[in-house]
Amino acid sequence: MDLFEHQAKELFAEYGIPVPRGVVAHTVEEARAAAEQLTGRVVVKAQVKTGGRGKAGGVKVADDAADAEQKATQILGMDIKGHTVHKVLIEEASAIAEEYYFSFLLDRANRTFLAICSAAGGMDIEEVAHSAPEKVAKIPVSPLDGVDRARAREIAEAGGLPVAALDGAAELIEKLWAAFVDEDASLVEVNPMILSADGQVKALDGKVTLDDNAVFRQSDHVAFEDKDAEDPLEAAAKAKDLNYVKLDGSVGIIGNGAGLVMSTLDVVAYAGEAFPGQPKPANFLDIGGGASAEVMAAGLEIIISDPSVKSIFVNVFGGITACDAVANGIVSAFQLLESRGEAVSRPLVVRLDGNNAELGRQILADAKLSGVELVDTMDDAAKRAAELAAVGA
Ligand SMILES: Nc1ncnc2c1ncn2[C@@H]1O[C@H](COP(=O)(O)OP(=O)(O)OP(=O)(O)O)[C@@H](O)[C@H]1O
Ligand SMILES: [Mg+2]
Repeated sequence: MDLFEHQAKELFAEYGIPVPRGVVAHTVEEARAAAEQLTGRVVVKAQVKTGGRGKAGGVKVADDAADAEQKATQILGMDIKGHTVHKVLIEEASAIAEEYYFSFLLDRANRTFLAICSAAGGMDIEEVAHSAPEKVAKIPVSPLDGVDRARAREIAEAGGLPVAALDGAAELIEKLWAAFVDEDASLVEVNPMILSADGQVKALDGKVTLDDNAVFRQSDHVAFEDKDAEDPLEAAAKAKDLNYVKLDGSVGIIGNGAGLVMSTLDVVAYAGEAFPGQPKPANFLDIGGGASAEVMAAGLEIIISDPSVKSIFVNVFGGITACDAVANGIVSAFQLLESRGEAVSRPLVVRLDGNNAELGRQILADAKLSGVELVDTMDDAAKRAAELAAVGA
């Protein structure tokens, strides 16, 4: 999960990293009030999860509260690389002497962590890295050794930071390492890390990526989730612990096992090419190994609440959970949804194979569920589901 700049800075502050005082504003009025509270010159900064905001006009200095109001009017609602600005950070303006670049990240290729440091920081760092790579120090960091004050100072020196900034930078880098490790981040970036006119080293921008796989031991990270940006179907699926990703097609997909579901998406997309409108998969949904009636019902419920779904393809390979259990799950799911007044109203194609497949098919045939068709092979089932989606569109 990527954090907004203001969230990154809140996290930095918890680790004692100096950041400017700032207030988040969702409206022009809030922006004005925030600037009044901070007094003096402020910077109005678009909060979007993409870089290059400054160059796109999303970071503007304002002389006073009235000016901040005007700048916020320009920035709120702006589109930056496909991200709409819903909030701005109003921050006290720092007197900048110099701008540096610093980050810690996971270097997957070399199986280590990496510190990147450069005295040539700021908005043109990408250009510097391209045209003068010698100005950007890349230093491997062993997770076993970590980064203490002395190591942090060495990294800052390697990045070419001037003597005046070394103490402050070493302190900031040491604390940033603590944040990087303790928060299970895969990236913490400060660009610019500045030397202010009065000799302080501060984080003026922050980019943080947290490892979602660590959420089990980072329960407070949930508070960073961006509810506004989440797809409502994905949010509903997540609440039911379903492994669901919304896609933009019209064939609802349910399968057991991520690999099977992925290949189902491919087969359906391929089959769809032969039909009018070329129907494509509407989602990824893996109900996992133990496809119980409840999980099947929960999955079907999510899929039928997607108005773009015109047909549904249930593709199950019975393994530890045998096909008869899955078939019973489908039957119970239909009953469960019907009793809640949410009957499955779209055609459903089922392919069962593997453990107890015959028995599973028999159970479904006997249940005579309306709209349910059994097809023997994955290819034929994909074709039929695509055809039904094309007809229903
Ligand atoms: N609080 C501040 N006080 C003074 N100047 C600031 C402040 N915040 C940002 N700036 C200036 O604006 C520039 C751009 O800001 P910032 O780095 O936060 O956004 P950005 O352009 O989106 O960066 P990135 O591309 O790294 O995401 C900074 O390099 C700095 O010169
Ligand atoms: Mg920046």
